[in-house]
Amino acid sequence: MQEHTVRYELDNGLGIIHIDNPPVNALSHSVRAGIMDALAQARSDSSQLLLLLCAGKTFIAGADISEFGKPPQAPSLPDVITALETFPKPVAAALHGNALGGGLELAMAAHYRAALAGTRLGLPEVKLGLLPGAGGTQRLPRLVGAERALKMISSGAPIEANSALEYGLIDHILEGELAPGAIEWARQLIAEKAPTRITGALPVAPPSQPDFFSKHHQQTARKTRGQIAPGYITDLVELSLDTPLEEGLKREREYFLACRDSPQSAALRYVFFAERATTKLPDIAPETPVRAIDSVAIIGAGTMGGGIAMCFANAGIPVTLVETRQDYLDNGLEKISQNYANSVARGRFSAAQVDSWLGNISGTLDYNDIAGVDLVVEAVFENMEVKQEVFRKLDNVCKPGCILATNTSYLDVNVIAGTTRRPQDVIGAHFFSPANIMKLLEVVRAEKTAPDVIKTFMKLAKTIGKIPVAVGVCHGFVGNRMLKAYGRQAQLLLLEGATPTQIDNAMEQWGMAMGPLAVGDLAGLDIGYRSRRDQGITSGSVAEFALADALVEMERLGQKSGAGYYRYDPVTRARAADPDVESLLKTIAKQWQVSQRAIDDDEIVDRLVLALVNEGAAIVEEGIAARPSDVDVVYLNGYGFPAWRGGPMFYADTLGLAALLERLQTLQQSTGDSFWTPAPLLRRLHDQGLTIGSLNQTG
Ligand code: CAA
Repeated sequence: MQEHTVRYELDNGLGIIHIDNPPVNALSHSVRAGIMDALAQARSDSSQLLLLLCAGKTFIAGADISEFGKPPQAPSLPDVITALETFPKPVAAALHGNALGGGLELAMAAHYRAALAGTRLGLPEVKLGLLPGAGGTQRLPRLVGAERALKMISSGAPIEANSALEYGLIDHILEGELAPGAIEWARQLIAEKAPTRITGALPVAPPSQPDFFSKHHQQTARKTRGQIAPGYITDLVELSLDTPLEEGLKREREYFLACRDSPQSAALRYVFFAERATTKLPDIAPETPVRAIDSVAIIGAGTMGGGIAMCFANAGIPVTLVETRQDYLDNGLEKISQNYANSVARGRFSAAQVDSWLGNISGTLDYNDIAGVDLVVEAVFENMEVKQEVFRKLDNVCKPGCILATNTSYLDVNVIAGTTRRPQDVIGAHFFSPANIMKLLEVVRAEKTAPDVIKTFMKLAKTIGKIPVAVGVCHGFVGNRMLKAYGRQAQLLLLEGATPTQIDNAMEQWGMAMGPLAVGDLAGLDIGYRSRRDQGITSGSVAEFALADALVEMERLGQKSGAGYYRYDPVTRARAADPDVESLLKTIAKQWQVSQRAIDDDEIVDRLVLALVNEGAAIVEEGIAARPSDVDVVYLNGYGFPAWRGGPMFYADTLGLAALLERLQTLQQSTGDSFWTPAPLLRRLHDQGLTIGSLNQTG
């Protein structure tokens, strides 16, 4: 049955095309067909001008992403857009909320555009491994010039209505309510006898520098290594300079289809939906209430506590930082101020904005001052005794119903909850550093955490701009548990004969933001060292930690001490291979009687990535993650896994379970390492003829 998402209304010479396709007015088949029907009606009626107007919170936020990968249904979006641009009567579009992707492409083909202040306009297709496939690469340069268009399309970042007006992307800012304002503007156009205007007929303003495109190509190749859409985008915008619209559109279509049908875009579209699925928890009933969180306290004003405080302050929620000493508190508050000042200096936020956020943050040394808050996030030193002590105090002082969260990366939240008389109110909140920037948040459900506490925390995480993933209790939860398996393979490969440079280059070439050893040096090698001691692992007791231990004991702590797995240039921080590390490795291999050999890049990638896959599958099987896509969301947002490969679980399906099992078995035989025993889930899915992804549908 055809849904009625488009309604045409003729009101005293003004033809209004109403679009109402919740939640974001995506250009689904029914919308495309509805617009075509409305145009057909308007062609022969008494309308003098057509107005596109959307219901709800937003103008059209793009093509319907869920339709990609399904058989196309006519009319196609380019056909709708051509019909609109060449319509014999003037067409105006009134924008609000978001005008993104195909939505902006449609608006650009209208003859006039106006937007409510605050509307965001952009072509975010590159984030889905696509390029604007309905004229965006050819019409945007005609409206805003080649340079600005390329910047917008290749970053995918939207601009606000005021900038859009300045750049010539819209003609007018609408005041007041959308519908009355838009209708008044449209009637004004009729009164002025505004003619039709074809965007496609405009010339393109060329870039200011003749080598602009070649430089952009070089930058793109470096920054978006391995991805296909960014290079095509540069070519297409360059093409718009001296190519008639029709020809440009033809080339754009060709490149768009190549991107749309690529595994990269399939992966990025999967990620789009995976990130939005994390809050859908099958065991939390829809009627579960949420608790109001109007005030928050953070225990500990260190780097983590300060970053977490900023997240709440930025969302307009008052935060109180609690410290044990005035100088610690002063330092913490000062660091927050500096952090904000830096973002003002970098142009990220205005001074006024930052001032209002800072006004939401206060500090105290007295737990009694936080007795009335709705949520406490503990962010003290990662040590069980210290955390337990804090929770005992919180249990004594906080009001009933207050949610008590612990920011831990490894520790057992059940044990922490057990120190209170209210384990149902205790939850884990594993923020990633820097907490005010990183979007990932592992929300750790302990055994007794109440469903309304989980639901409240997931919702709150969205309010403060995070991507929350609910995880169960185990050492390292999802992300750090997988990282451990991955890091272990890196250490074994070093012992067996690979160099740090070879391992990091192979992984970066494959798409990881940074190789594992460079990450270790960045984080500080002393962190892992301390954690191993906490777990009772002493120096020299385990072969795969021998190098990492030796480096720390030589005071090579990573970037902060100028050397770790690499040597670092004190000014540029550029890493350089260090022959001392390579000879140390040879000595350690001898001590542990590991015979070294030449290792190729394929083996490095295979072992590191398959370590993530096998551990991830075990995590899903144990129910630590609700679904495989949650594992992917964690690894993509917290650990630099390339989004265009979809995450470890998605990647495993692209290999195919039969091939994957064979590779795991081969590794098990060649290394004799029981880690490579395939997770039983993988075998079971294979035997049932299912994929890992099939488990996402049930979640
Ligand atoms: N297609 C299908 N569904 C979409 C969608 C789209 N383009 N955009 C959003 N949705 C769905 C989401 O999956 C989500 O569904 P659930 O509630 O079932 O999870 C719902 O709409 C709300 O989305 P958000 O949770 O993201 O809501 P938000 O208010 O935080 O953000 C938004 C709104 C900024 C529009 C954001 O959804 C967004 O960025 N959407 C994607 C925009 C985009 O990439 N457009 C380009 C599409 S490709 C294209 O247009 C190609 C072309 O040239 C033809």
